[in-house]
Amino acid sequence: MAARLLGIRAVAYEPHPFFATISEAKANSSRYWASLPSIHAAIGRGILRRNRDTFTLSQSAEVFLAKMFRPEDLAALLSARRELEENGLGENPLAILVLSRILDHCCFAATDGIYKAPTSTKRALSPQEATSKVLATLLEDEREALAGPHGCEIHEKSSELMTELEDSSVDVVVTSPPYLNNFDFAEMTRMYLYFWGLAGSWGEITDRVRSLLVVNTTTALKGHKERQADYRSSLPLEVRVAADKAVAELSSRKAEKAGKKDYDLLVYPYLSQMQAVLRECVRTLKPGAPFHMMVSDAALYGVHLPAPQWLAFIMQHIGFVDVHCEIVRPRGHRWVLEKREGSALGLGEYYVFGRAC
Ligand SMILES: C[S@@+](CC[C@H](N)C(=O)[O-])C[C@H]1O[C@@H](n2cnc3c(N)ncnc32)[C@H](O)[C@@H]1O
Repeated sequence: MAARLLGIRAVAYEPHPFFATISEAKANSSRYWASLPSIHAAIGRGILRRNRDTFTLSQSAEVFLAKMFRPEDLAALLSARRELEENGLGENPLAILVLSRILDHCCFAATDGIYKAPTSTKRALSPQEATSKVLATLLEDEREALAGPHGCEIHEKSSELMTELEDSSVDVVVTSPPYLNNFDFAEMTRMYLYFWGLAGSWGEITDRVRSLLVVNTTTALKGHKERQADYRSSLPLEVRVAADKAVAELSSRKAEKAGKKDYDLLVYPYLSQMQAVLRECVRTLKPGAPFHMMVSDAALYGVHLPAPQWLAFIMQHIGFVDVHCEIVRPRGHRWVLEKREGSALGLGEYYVFGRAC
């Protein structure tokens, strides 16, 4: 979106199906704007009809969503989804964005990124109130939504392999990849994945979403536990030595902790997959072109994981020049996950810069 507003053609990679759809709706909104009145009308009709029998949810979805919505509201929202489908709007990214935003307002589970059901609650709007609010916001944003050269290419896939892009063809890369802090982007979107039928159980969320993302959570380790040695051997020696020390420490703390979290198994896959992404970035950037990344360090079981510095080292190793890394938001700021156990070193978000040579 920022690129469009600046008049720059952009290409983006996002393997999470829900995020990719929302990105398409926002980055290329002019493609879908003309259908806004039909989207509004279909959602309105669905909410009035409120016939929930038209949809069968999986049992997990049913149980999870029942903790977040009043039964009559969930019936109305599902009926709105059905109405969109019956009017050929079921796959329209703007329709999915609008109804998802309505869900946010109707949901009474509070959120800090992840919807926390059912322990903390917030005020929920009725589906009618939520629809009016979302439509008003969209219309307020209309000028911005329609400004600039539409035509951002959003690829619903991992940036580990950007085959659509030629060597030395890109002027600038901007990225904020997942952090090595066990924040689960699949879990964060569970409400939407269930509501839209993108997954019907925890196992399906893993297979259809988590498995596509850079490994940064212990919930995403399916299929990766066995490949630790390959990931490890792909890393430059200096990073491998530092990572070995952190992994050994994590594994010994795991033995003492009741939760027995496999944090030790996250480090090699994360660094190796990020190395693949960085290789693709240096390949596709024009000589001298800049690369900008926001990324965070972490402390899992109290072991400090200096991911930004490790990634900066990998960048130098694979051919970036002028690499530097600086802290942007130190510990204590709201961006730091305070729930994590600390370490002697300050945690925070880092800016990592480099140039293709
Ligand atoms: C830290 S978030 C960044 C969010 C965004 N920068 C922002 O500030 O709102 C990381 C994003 O990377 C995406 N992602 C995970 N694995 C990826 C991969 N292999 N290729 C491209 N994107 C990926 C996640 O789905 C998520 O949207």
